Amino acid sequence: MGGPLGVFDSGFGGLTIFKGIRSQIPEYDFLYLGDNARTPYGNRSFETVLAFSIEAVNYLLKSGCPLVVVACNTASAKALRTIQQNWLPKHFPDRRVLGVIRPTAEAVSNFTKTKKVGLWATTGTVKSGSFPIEIEKLAPGVQVFQQACPLLVPLVEAGELDGEGLHHFIQKYWRLTMAQCGDIDTLLLACTHYPLIYNEIRKIIPESVRIVSQDKIIPPSLVDYLSRHPEIDSRLAKNGTAQFLTTEEESFFNQLAGVFLGESVRSQKVVL
Ligand code: DGL
Repeated sequence: MGGPLGVFDSGFGGLTIFKGIRSQIPEYDFLYLGDNARTPYGNRSFETVLAFSIEAVNYLLKSGCPLVVVACNTASAKALRTIQQNWLPKHFPDRRVLGVIRPTAEAVSNFTKTKKVGLWATTGTVKSGSFPIEIEKLAPGVQVFQQACPLLVPLVEAGELDGEGLHHFIQKYWRLTMAQCGDIDTLLLACTHYPLIYNEIRKIIPESVRIVSQDKIIPPSLVDYLSRHPEIDSRLAKNGTAQFLTTEEESFFNQLAGVFLGESVRSQKVVL
């Protein structure tokens, strides 16, 4: 039997992480939940992101997921610790919820030689300070220069995946990053939506700077986690299915998710 592996994001962006995970373990069953009706989370308060994230994770756990990956950086930054330490032990003590910050922090020293790293994320993620805190613990000596990029998510959500408007803001955020430190050799894209504009970011950032996108970091880290936790892995169903849930209109989700995944998607609308 077993249950599906849950993947939660505030909207579409987590599909980049889902796609990466599914390509590594296609035999697993997946249940993706996008809170499209309430996205973006990036500028919302701590309390709101926590409340929304608990509702979403609760929905996935009630649907039978033994394990949920919170693909959203903002939710991972603001809600994951409280979910893992306080909420989960009370409500679903035998289930697990993982985020995306720790695996990113664990991987960062593999990329940087100068030990100076730029990090692009939403305002909420940057303000939470979660990445610098985790990187200090897991990659001591690596300095992080955070840059909030509040307009990139709305541009992606509006389907502006290339063109002058997008380039203007990428250039602006890069200038602001360089003003903090001219010596970074790695740029971490710490937001679910940024892999969708990776090629455009690559066109603007100098070749000498490595751009690291989480859709390359999270999947291998999850596979490693599953190999180290057979008690969780054995409870995950493996029939190669994927189901998509959204809090918005199904047709809205199906259309954009279809573009992001390159396949036809039939989602189901849910109320959290
Ligand atoms: N999923 C969010 C993140 O990775 C970006 C979209 C949002 O602001 O909700 O931070």
